Amino acid sequence: MKDSVASATASAPGTVCVTGAAGFIGSWLVMRLLERGYIVRATVRDPANLKKVKHLLDLPKADTNLTLWKADLNEEGSFDEAIEGCSGVFHVATPMDFESKDPENEVIKPTINGVLSIIRSCTKAKTVKRLVFTSSAGTVNVQEHQQPVFDENNWSDLDFINKKKMTGWMYFVSKTLAEKAAWEAAKENNIDFISIIPTLVVGPFIMPTFPPSLITALSPITRNEGHYSIIKQGQFVHLDDLCESHIFLYERPQAEGRYICSSHDATIHDLAKLMREKWPEYNVPTEFKGIDKDLPVVSFSSKKLIGMGFEFKYSLEDMFRGAIDTCREKGLLPHSFAENPVNGNKV
Ligand SMILES: NC(=O)c1ccc[n+]([C@@H]2O[C@H](COP(=O)([O-])OP(=O)(O)OC[C@H]3O[C@@H](n4cnc5c(N)ncnc54)[C@H](OP(=O)(O)O)[C@@H]3O)[C@@H](O)[C@H]2O)c1
Ligand SMILES: *[C@@H]1O[C@H](CO)[C@@H](O)[C@H](O)[C@H]1NC(C)=O
Ligand SMILES: *[C@@H]1O[C@H](CO)[C@@H](O)[C@H](O)[C@H]1NC(C)=O
Repeated sequence: MKDSVASATASAPGTVCVTGAAGFIGSWLVMRLLERGYIVRATVRDPANLKKVKHLLDLPKADTNLTLWKADLNEEGSFDEAIEGCSGVFHVATPMDFESKDPENEVIKPTINGVLSIIRSCTKAKTVKRLVFTSSAGTVNVQEHQQPVFDENNWSDLDFINKKKMTGWMYFVSKTLAEKAAWEAAKENNIDFISIIPTLVVGPFIMPTFPPSLITALSPITRNEGHYSIIKQGQFVHLDDLCESHIFLYERPQAEGRYICSSHDATIHDLAKLMREKWPEYNVPTEFKGIDKDLPVVSFSSKKLIGMGFEFKYSLEDMFRGAIDTCREKGLLPHSFAENPVNGNKV
């Protein structure tokens, strides 16, 4: 295994582009890449908005090894300049608005057109050795019948999603169509493309605002009932494990296809039990509206990733401790919650 690591990183780690760099996953990935000696081009929609980019500019080595580039998934060719001359691209950006009033134009189209536009930028650049796409569990198991274990061969059922219109449906549709379109376009254009499929990402973070995935992960605490269905039979990965897996797979030329990245499976009841034990001050309930008491665990298999030599480092408790501590430090989550909130415990 060791020998084959060499070629992508034979000399210096080189220059890479990270899209959606200011976000929850993007910003942590940028931090790890800089630590590792990469020169990073971070794309954001508004580099002048200090509130949204200061956490990037403050990173160790940012002064010398990080540049910000303006790019938008809605604009064809927008990523050309940032990608030109890069040896790798991590495409992390995605519109995450579950409450969108115009899901087709605000979520679905930019996600699909964005990845296709980025593939064209890679083709034009001619320097890109690999494009890593951050996909989603939403491309895998959003189906009427859950099976005990899902793997990289499984794809979500678009007819079922469009019929059910469950919380986050437009996001599941957008990621599924985008990943499928990307596989075709990458093949046609001879781009070395891999996708990483994180389940729900939880952990400490450096972005300044409340991360979208924590709206879901912390929903038993905040009583955001609309999100219970997503973690009813949930799977989880620590933000740091996920970012390490991105760099790990980028650096291994033999990596190909899709890779599930998920370390823990837990039902909402398992999660609530952990939360009640470790954070009794949030009065997490023992029952959840519309959710059966007896639920089988649904597992996502990371066998393919582990088979490459990757090791997960964190526990489920680590993920939630990191997330809750960071939210508290940044003033995004109160230190306790009432037992019977009137309108949910708003954050
Ligand atoms: N967090 C999870 O649990 C989870 C699980 C599975 C998969 N994922 C995937 O991981 C990736 C990152 O998610 P995240 O949790 O880090 O979400 P996030 O914090 O919302 O980050 C996404 C970033 O995408 C950027 N973005 C949104 N619309 C854009 C547009 N039209 N053009 C360019 N950039 C746009 C935003 O950048 P600016 O506003 O700064 O420009 C934002 O910082 C996504 O691809 C998501 O599908 C996440
Ligand atoms: C990256 O940063 C290091 C020190 O932080 C510096 O020595 C090196 O020249 C930088 N690389 C580039 C390309 O600026
Ligand atoms: C998931 O993929 C496996 C093969 O790995 C297959 O046997 C199974 O039928 C698939 N399930 C669904 C619901 O597509």
